[in-house]
Amino acid sequence: MGVAALLLLAIAVRVHTAGWARADEATTLWFVPDDLSNTSSCDSLGMERVELYRAVLRVNDSYATGASEDVFFPLFSSHPLPGPAPDSDLEADPAVRVGMIFVHGALRNANAYFCEGSSAVASRGGDVKARTLVVAPWYGTEQLSAEEWMGRGNGTSTRWTNNSWIQGGDTRGKPKRFSTSFDIMDQLVRLLLDGAPLVDGAKLYPRLDHVVIQFAFRYSFFAALDTRVRYLLSDAATWMYFSPERPAPRCTLLHDSGVSHACVEFGEPDVEECTGYNNYKYGLGNLSSSESRYVERFADDQGLLDDAVELWADKDVRFVFGQHDTCNAQSNGYDNARSCFQRDAGCYPVSGDVALREMNLTGMTCCDTFPASNNNVLDVNCEAMLTGSNRLQRGLNHMNYLTHLYSVRRRHSLFAGAHSDYAFYQSKAFVEWAFPGELDLPHTKEQGPRVELNR
Ligand SMILES: *[C@@H]1O[C@H](CO)[C@@H](O)[C@H](O)[C@H]1NC(C)=O
Ligand SMILES: *[C@@H]1O[C@H](CO)[C@@H](O)[C@H](O)[C@H]1NC(C)=O
Ligand SMILES: *[C@@H]1O[C@H](CO)[C@@H](O)[C@H](O)[C@H]1NC(C)=O
Ligand SMILES: *[C@@H]1O[C@H](CO)[C@@H](O)[C@H](O)[C@H]1NC(C)=O
Ligand SMILES: *[C@@H]1O[C@H](CO)[C@@H](O)[C@H](O)[C@H]1NC(C)=O
Ligand SMILES: *[C@@H]1O[C@H](CO)[C@@H](O)[C@H](O)[C@H]1NC(C)=O
Repeated sequence: MGVAALLLLAIAVRVHTAGWARADEATTLWFVPDDLSNTSSCDSLGMERVELYRAVLRVNDSYATGASEDVFFPLFSSHPLPGPAPDSDLEADPAVRVGMIFVHGALRNANAYFCEGSSAVASRGGDVKARTLVVAPWYGTEQLSAEEWMGRGNGTSTRWTNNSWIQGGDTRGKPKRFSTSFDIMDQLVRLLLDGAPLVDGAKLYPRLDHVVIQFAFRYSFFAALDTRVRYLLSDAATWMYFSPERPAPRCTLLHDSGVSHACVEFGEPDVEECTGYNNYKYGLGNLSSSESRYVERFADDQGLLDDAVELWADKDVRFVFGQHDTCNAQSNGYDNARSCFQRDAGCYPVSGDVALREMNLTGMTCCDTFPASNNNVLDVNCEAMLTGSNRLQRGLNHMNYLTHLYSVRRRHSLFAGAHSDYAFYQSKAFVEWAFPGELDLPHTKEQGPRVELNR
């Protein structure tokens, strides 16, 4: 297969460019954390030694904690990354102009995202691969030593014990509250765009023209504006609202309302049973309880928050939704389409009445995160259900909400598929928006491919 051959070539080339921040090839025993233990995606793409792409980012003590330990953030990178105290020659590759950051979802399987992202890049052909640096950060559950991650070096890795990393969460483990998932993304973006001094202080590396980030929507909101950064986002379980308004009840019906779903009515919901509906991460309420030092800064500063809402309009954030990402295995009354039921997939947990009845009748399980995983993890809390009943509906509602808020339509598109990062990366919209030809265009706020609205 062409893809496999290209990737193997990359491994061969890398031997000559190994910098200190790359994993030690001589190390044959790799410590494999649980989050990264499923290698089936990489195996099927012909990337069998993905450990060789392990790299680290030395995390800055941005909050001046004075911690004595070195803290590193583990990631996978197609090219060596610079850092303090390099012990070998690290050559900047002038051909590399674009950075693509692929961030995993709730499963934290950064290895799979690295392989799928690399494959999406390699399959473009031409000089795309040579021009593109692929990075897959790992917001891991386990705290590792540098020895375990890289086979050498000092320090311990960052760690998040639960999903708080998605919303900018503070690192856990030691040193306490050292940094946050958003600070680290800032640091990575700055490194790619502004470069870092090499050991002689003369050269800057890598200093790219653009960075494409496939990451949490919330980061795009809180991060500083930089027009060299483009965000390409797909089927998140929930999208943060910038005001207390939510879609009207008839915009959140309990079935697949299709790709033409539209919502024209927004207002403050009647929320006897869901009083915290606007709290962060669902909205911008109660930011002081965000578990994130990065986000807390906005809690007591209405001016800063208002500025962020205004600035977001100028950020290059685009959306691509899976047209079949419409299943919900756990809400009573939710009417799942036949396509939500899979034989032998063993999706779990399944608790919605309609899903259970259908499962009893057909013997197939209802899957809301298939094919990305067999774990049903769609957020069905009341805060989430107020924004839509499935991922596609929530996404389309949010597009309509942004239009309602800013009076400008956002670029969004669809791909044929359910909950699949692989299908997203291979989609027409992703290819058009992620790869260099298009990125060379000046930043523009023009409308993207339109989804036909039926009212
Ligand atoms: C590993 O991942 C593949 C697809 O990415 C999935 O089909 C499989 O069930 C996973 N295996 C385990 C043991 O979780
Ligand atoms: C690193 O953190 C220090 C405070 O500890 C701050 O002064 C400095 O600007 C930070 N550097 C970067 C690159 O963020
Ligand atoms: C790592 O720590 C050891 C022992 O504290 C020290 O001797 C060594 O110089 C350190 N190495 C690096 C690369 O900092
Ligand atoms: C994460 O875990 C902490 C500590 O157990 C808890 O206080 C917090 O609410 C959890 N956050 C999320 C987003 O699950
Ligand atoms: C803010 O969050 C905290 C912690 O989650 C919670 O105890 C409190 O009730 C929340 N406040 C509001 C107004 O919802
Ligand atoms: C499905 O089957 C289980 C086990 O037989 C049963 O307890 C449950 O009531 C059934 N659910 C529905 C909705 O038919």
